[in-house]
Amino acid sequence: MTITIEKLTQSTDFLKEKGFENPEIGLILGSGLGDLADEIKDAIAVPYEEIPNFPVSTVSGHKGQLVYGTLEGKKVIAMQGRFHYYEGYHMQEVTMPVRVMKMLGVHTLGLTNAAGGVNMGFTPGDLMLITDHINFTGQNPLIGINYDEIGPRFPDMSETYSKEYQELIKKTANEMDVTLKEGIYMGYTGPTYETPAEIEMSRTLGADAVGMSTVPEAIIGRHAGLNIFGISCITNLAAGMQSNLNHEEVVEVTTQVNKTFKLLIKKILKAI
Ligand code: 6GU
Repeated sequence: MTITIEKLTQSTDFLKEKGFENPEIGLILGSGLGDLADEIKDAIAVPYEEIPNFPVSTVSGHKGQLVYGTLEGKKVIAMQGRFHYYEGYHMQEVTMPVRVMKMLGVHTLGLTNAAGGVNMGFTPGDLMLITDHINFTGQNPLIGINYDEIGPRFPDMSETYSKEYQELIKKTANEMDVTLKEGIYMGYTGPTYETPAEIEMSRTLGADAVGMSTVPEAIIGRHAGLNIFGISCITNLAAGMQSNLNHEEVVEVTTQVNKTFKLLIKKILKAI
């Protein structure tokens, strides 16, 4: 399974024909955070299954689409629903939409997710600005042939999440009176949540939050030279810090925080 430049070009050309013209910012909307895409003006929505070479969804009832249009005066492409490694996709498949966004012309990638809090100072419902990540998946989406026309064989990761955007986002949250935590996101493959011992390890290693996404997309985005920002919605405290974890709780908390989350992202888009 290899995602070739030809395949990426086919997907890109298809979306251009659909009207995806000169997008500036790509957004990947995490679990429970997808309805920001419903606020996009003059929207063109294309289901993933219609896009040539996009991964075929394995999960029943999975609603995934790319939505193009204008949000806060910016031309955006939003992924409403993302691909996860735990669903059985290859890392290259999980991340191929990021390369397509880059080929369509975006210069910025906003990554969002639902995550478990590891930092003792976090509470469910907190929003966390991602300052850096730890790739704990044991995988890397760049393993394989390197496309030098996209980026270098050995990409620098010393500023994966743009410092300039971090400052702008903190300033924006402050102006809105939104409390924004900040910290390091540690990416696991899932689908299991972590054990209490793994969470203790994560904290010892410097993680503030854990999740099952974002890291592969950040790697592919950075490789391609995109400016990246990331926001985690802390939906629960990780194992050992609260009673049993379940997906329903994750969805419930994201639904509650959604309003603030959407306002913050819109203000960020405006400020970029
Ligand atoms: Cl506790 N762990 C992981 N890996 N992902 C999550 C989570 C925990 N809570 C929400 N997403």
